[in-house]
Amino acid sequence: MNPAKIIIDTDPGQDDAVAILLALASPEDVEVLGITCVAGNVPLELTARNARIVCELAGFPQTKIFAGCDRPLGRTLVTAEHVHGKSGLDGPVLPEPTMPLQDTHAVDFIIDTLRAEPAGTVTLCPLGPLTNIAAALQKAPDIAERIKQIVLMGGAYFEVGNITPTAEFNIYVDPEAARIVFGAGAPLVVMPLDVTHKALVTTPRNDAFRALGNATGIAVAEMTDFFERFDLAKYGSEGAPLHDPCVTAYLIAPHLFSGRHINVEIECDSDLCRGMTVADWWGVTDRKPNALFIGDLDADHFFALLTDRLARLP
Ligand code: RIB
Ligand code: CA
Repeated sequence: MNPAKIIIDTDPGQDDAVAILLALASPEDVEVLGITCVAGNVPLELTARNARIVCELAGFPQTKIFAGCDRPLGRTLVTAEHVHGKSGLDGPVLPEPTMPLQDTHAVDFIIDTLRAEPAGTVTLCPLGPLTNIAAALQKAPDIAERIKQIVLMGGAYFEVGNITPTAEFNIYVDPEAARIVFGAGAPLVVMPLDVTHKALVTTPRNDAFRALGNATGIAVAEMTDFFERFDLAKYGSEGAPLHDPCVTAYLIAPHLFSGRHINVEIECDSDLCRGMTVADWWGVTDRKPNALFIGDLDADHFFALLTDRLARLP
């Protein structure tokens, strides 16, 4: 079968990095048309730096990387250095990037690509705040019907919030952008904390990354060692949750995931519940289902797939 043509929209972030590495290691499953960077975990200058660092680590310096929005549509940027460290990619010591950023703005790359590729053939994979995606939909409403699907990491229901009691970070940072994306009508697959908190990098799993012995495996193990301390302190969970790689893994092995096609709305007006994904998991409203909301995964096979694919990289 032909590989899925994808645009990864990202705010690296250690977990974003692993998602990008998994995609680049899987050319039979995904063709990365480009990587668009957004402000989120850390400011845009750093997310655009980190995306290039990761592509060079993977041996893909020819990847097209674009800088996008440096703040949410209508709010002040909230970042997450407390989770990801000052650089956003704390843990391994990796060389500064030498590959260039593309001159085109990320939003224009998203629009141009969706208009140039045959309708229904390009998948958008947002791994951070949805600002770039929403800005593209606002600037070019015609692209909505040309999107094959949007597979994103964001939101939470049973797992509740990680940046506030009710909101997951990606949605919290730009809830207005999320409302636009969730209301765009494009087929939507959502990887909320409900499933990503089941993708925990336990010690044996992280040892398996390190035991690969390649630069990628060692760097991923060092990223995870750094990244897990936040969740360990907050949830007492053993291991860092690999949020964003769930998106890439879904494109490669969707059978590892399960969920429900339900209605999901975004709270934007309440200070207390800003960014909450109001998921009608039990079907108690007559609101139209707009998202496949993923609740579970086969974690052992997820990590086996991830480890096998990372072994392919330098
Ligand atoms: O809440 C987890 C999400 O926020 C992940 O995408 C992580 O990288 C951060 O962007
Ligand atoms: Ca992210």
